[in-house]
Amino acid sequence: MDVDRFLRELPAQFDDFPLSDKPRDLRFAEVLEAVTGLAQPNNLALLNVAASCLSEGEAYVEVGTYRGTSLIAAMLGNAGEFVALDNWSMGDGSREQLDLNLARFGLTGAAIVEGDAFETLRSDALEGRTIGVYYYDNGHEYEQQLDGMRLIEAYLASPALVIVDDTDWERVERARPASVSCNDAVNEFTKAAHSRDRAWPPTLVPLGLVHG
Ligand SMILES: C[S@@+](CC[C@H](N)C(=O)[O-])C[C@H]1O[C@@H](n2cnc3c(N)ncnc32)[C@H](O)[C@@H]1O
Repeated sequence: MDVDRFLRELPAQFDDFPLSDKPRDLRFAEVLEAVTGLAQPNNLALLNVAASCLSEGEAYVEVGTYRGTSLIAAMLGNAGEFVALDNWSMGDGSREQLDLNLARFGLTGAAIVEGDAFETLRSDALEGRTIGVYYYDNGHEYEQQLDGMRLIEAYLASPALVIVDDTDWERVERARPASVSCNDAVNEFTKAAHSRDRAWPPTLVPLGLVHG
């Protein structure tokens, strides 16, 4: 994962980063219009830039895909390996709906892993993969959050970008393992994003953590 490129290219997506309430690229608002999800265009642009900075042989892995909004945003215009985990226990999400939504955007080739996230992460489902970008958008109870971090550590590239939703919740922030350090520029962005509740809604602000 090219973290420096990520930190250079993310601000370049906005007229006035981090104040802008939408990225210059209109595709992300279009994704949200077509596939209603829980994110904002800014969050989607961030995932897209992150996935564009994967190094050779690294995968983008997300836990919590729902209707596919975040996965579609990560994949748009990007090559590489994409893996998504969900058990569709929330609302009206389903595997069929996800497949249809990916097809609407002409996206193929993502590995969709269906099942309980924590059982899956404890199994060998990710064996052989090196994760450059990890997006965790699943249960945010402290123990779930901790498992979501601990169980993925062995697969993370060094460095990797770890993006977590709802990082303004104390129990989410508290579950950051000591082995995952955060570089100053990422910290600065996260602080700025948390203070801008329109552009980066507080409950949906991703936190980038640089590992290794
Ligand atoms: C907040 S939604 C994900 C939103 C998605 N990233 C987006 O951009 O719209 C959380 C997802 O996690 C899934 N989920 C919740 N608990 C789970 C578990 N134990 N294992 C697998 N998936 C789970 C739900 O089915 C839901 O689709």
